[in-house]
Amino acid sequence: MILTQSQIEKKLSNENLDELLELWQTEQGAAKRRDLELMAATLPFPVDARLRVLDLCCGPGDVGRSIWARYPHSQIDCVDRDVFLISICIGVNRREGVSAQNFVRDLWNAGWHNGLRPDYDVVATANALHWFDAHRVADLFTDVFGLLRPGGVFLFVEPACTQKMFADGFAEWKSRQPARYSRENWERFWTRANEILGYDHTKLLGSRDSHLDEGMSVSGWGQALRNAGFECIDVLLRDADEVFLATAKP
Ligand SMILES: C[S@@+](CC[C@H](N)C(=O)[O-])C[C@H]1O[C@@H](n2cnc3c(N)ncnc32)[C@H](O)[C@@H]1O
Repeated sequence: MILTQSQIEKKLSNENLDELLELWQTEQGAAKRRDLELMAATLPFPVDARLRVLDLCCGPGDVGRSIWARYPHSQIDCVDRDVFLISICIGVNRREGVSAQNFVRDLWNAGWHNGLRPDYDVVATANALHWFDAHRVADLFTDVFGLLRPGGVFLFVEPACTQKMFADGFAEWKSRQPARYSRENWERFWTRANEILGYDHTKLLGSRDSHLDEGMSVSGWGQALRNAGFECIDVLLRDADEVFLATAKP
C-alpha cells in the first residue's frame, strides 16, 4: 500500500534520516558540497539577517539547510512534489531546528505558488530545473521573479550544454573528468528508500518526458533570466556538468 505523506513522516526514524541523507549526498556527487557552500557564501546579506528563503524543488533539503547553516535566523520554506523526498527534508529540518514551512506542489501546475508570500529574500534551487522544458523554465523564472522582493536573490546550479562550436572539444575533455553521477549510487539510495517504504517509490517519481536535461546552454539560462526581468546576472561557476548562476531582482 502506498503511504501518505504523514505516514511516511512517521515511519522515518532518526537512523533512517541519517542513512538516507548520507546515501543522497553520495548520489548527488562530490561537487555538490562545493556548490552548496558557494550558494550560502555568495549571498550578499549580513549573517544575522532574518532571511526568507525558498528552497525550490527541495528534495531532502540540502540547499535550504546549507543557507540556514550560515543564516540561522532565517525561515526556509521548501517546495517539492515528491512526498518521500520532502518528508526527509521535513524530518531533518524539524530535528535540526530549522524554521520552515513546507509545500507539496507540482511546478508543472500554474498555481504551484499559491499561498506562498511574495517577499522572499532568496530563492535557491539545485539540480531540478532541468526536469522542465524551456517553455516551463521561462514561466517558472517569471514566477520566481514575482516571489522575490526587490533586491532579492535567485541562485541555481543546473546542467548546461556547450555551444556547438566548442561541444566536441568540451565533450572530449569531460570524458576524462571524474563522473559526477553513477547509476549504482542512484540505485543504492532508492533501494534503501524502497525497503523503508515497502514499495517501489521510483515508479511515482513522475515522467522524465520533455525535460531539458543538458539541453540549455549557459547563455540560454542567462537569456531566460533576462526575459523574466532579472538583472545583475553572473556565472559563479561552471564545471564539466553544471553551471551556477546568481542574479537579483532590480
Ligand atoms: C535531483 S533532485 C534535487 C533535490 C534538491 N534540490 C537537492 O539539491 O538535493 C530534483 C528534485 O526536483 C523535484 N521535482 C522534479 N519535478 C518537479 C515538479 N514538477 N514539481 C516539484 N518538484 C519537482 C524532485 O521531486 C526532486 O526532489
